[in-house]
Amino acid sequence: MEGSTPSGQGGLNAGEWRDLGSAAPAAKPNPAPPRRLSTTRLHINARPGSLAQERDRAREIVGLARDTVTETFSDIRFGRKLQAAKLEPIVAAIAASVNRSPTALPSVTRIKLHHEYTYLHSVAVCGLMIALGNELRLSHELTQEIGLAGLLHDIGKARIDADLLDKNGPLDLEEYALVQAHTLRGYELLRDSGIESEIALDVCLHHHERIDGGGYPSGISQETLSIHARMGAVCDVYDAVTSNRPYKPSWSPGAALDWMMSTSGHFDPRVLRTFRTLLGVFPVGSLVLLESQRLAVVLDEPAESPTSPDVCVFLDAATRQQLAPMRASTRSDAILGLEVAANWGLADFEPIRERLLLEFAGA
Ligand SMILES: [Fe+2]
Repeated sequence: MEGSTPSGQGGLNAGEWRDLGSAAPAAKPNPAPPRRLSTTRLHINARPGSLAQERDRAREIVGLARDTVTETFSDIRFGRKLQAAKLEPIVAAIAASVNRSPTALPSVTRIKLHHEYTYLHSVAVCGLMIALGNELRLSHELTQEIGLAGLLHDIGKARIDADLLDKNGPLDLEEYALVQAHTLRGYELLRDSGIESEIALDVCLHHHERIDGGGYPSGISQETLSIHARMGAVCDVYDAVTSNRPYKPSWSPGAALDWMMSTSGHFDPRVLRTFRTLLGVFPVGSLVLLESQRLAVVLDEPAESPTSPDVCVFLDAATRQQLAPMRASTRSDAILGLEVAANWGLADFEPIRERLLLEFAGA
């Protein structure tokens, strides 16, 4: 994400750019040709199953998608032409997973290692764009095209100097302008590659615009911004601020949504409300306070009772003492509300949440 952070700081910090720079593929004169992906490995025709099943499938899909996006960035860095056809089965697989469960794949893509951030961010935004398109009741064809736009939205970063992206420290104005140019570089790259999707071109160019006209590169506002660009802005920022990276604390989905809803002028309110609905009242991984004055992590999102998910309790809110983690139902111990980890002294909450999710989600 560029432009803003949950803490309200403008612009990029050095850590975010370290991610992007380190994401640059190692130089290889003759990279191996891309593997052919089967529909079986991509789970395109799989039947809906449990959340745990879908998370397992999503892990495999995300791994294949990450590798394909990495190859695509590498192709561009080596001066080869972008092959959109290589990405189509990936978009279809991500769409199939999102259609079976709108939250399984996003829960997998939130965990990003240092060197793979840019690629997994592209996969994540693709999944979120498709899920949002479904929630907005857009057609299947349109949703697939929007997914491709999400997968390609940051492709211009392949044309940004790796040293600049890898810079350890704040960016000066000139450097920041160069980095912001990834939008225009991406648009040009897609256009010159013969990408016919107007949506992909539009999202690539305008995903950093704001509805108040304060974004970049064009500073166009609500009246001129397409719905697809507004969807891109929401999905891009949400994934950036909720991404779990080793050195950078992230926000829980609930906290990120609260912050996004509280800002004015950045996001289209209607798109954001729909996005919140899509992620559920208490998205998986949210930190919540229960009536019993215990803190817990949300484990699932039951479609029939979205306000009463199962959770994993782990902390006594009154004493701040850790509890032996255990699965609990909120039908008998209601959720009082979403909480922010930092307010409870949980400065290093991410490893705790991920461990609890890995151990208890889908059990
Ligand atoms: Fe971007």
